[in-house]
Amino acid sequence: MKLGILIASARPNRVGSHVAQWVTEHVDPAWDLDLIDLGAVSLPNFDEAFSPKQGEPYAHDHTLTWSDRVSALDALVIVTPEYNGSIPGSLKTAVDYLHREWAELPVAVVGYGWGAGSGAIAEAERLLRFVGADVRGSVGLAFRQDLDVSGDLTVRPEQTGALGALLRSLESVAVAARQG
Ligand SMILES: Cc1cc2nc3c(=O)[nH]c(=O)nc-3n(C[C@H](O)[C@H](O)[C@H](O)COP(=O)(O)O)c2cc1C
Repeated sequence: MKLGILIASARPNRVGSHVAQWVTEHVDPAWDLDLIDLGAVSLPNFDEAFSPKQGEPYAHDHTLTWSDRVSALDALVIVTPEYNGSIPGSLKTAVDYLHREWAELPVAVVGYGWGAGSGAIAEAERLLRFVGADVRGSVGLAFRQDLDVSGDLTVRPEQTGALGALLRSLESVAVAARQG
């Protein structure tokens, strides 16, 4: 089974890489991992002629490649910063490009920011539910308490425990989906 860990920040010096590393360290080694760096995926602003919900064939190679990558996942952890009380545009664009690929996909959100990424988490959860993903829950990391601006992590045990519970939830749902 394949677990995606998606880094939503596209900044060169992003804290998100360190948060994704922390997530990776707690993943059951039985998972096949796909570390998805939205900076490298580098999708343009949405440029398909049709809404993905219409089910028309995708026209662009970047859409087909992104669709294949998400379709291969059994579950996904989204690692997102909070930008202006919300998610970065990179994440909104990545979600907008697809539709059927999100349906029933088990998703967990790991947000971070000065207020533990609460605005980003709320928006990411709302967005993923809107497109039909199976949002299992979230964990927030706070600057000063769990990490610093250079990306050094000293995560509180409650947050680490919450991540473990989320990862187990993703695994049980993904296993059940595989078994039909
Ligand atoms: C455009 C922008 C907007 C930001 N807005 C917020 C915000 O609303 N809340 C917050 O807690 N931090 C905010 N920050 C600070 C980020 O939490 C901090 O820069 C963090 O390192 C961003 O994650 P990244 O390094 O992985 O990109 C913002 C940063 C940027 C670049």
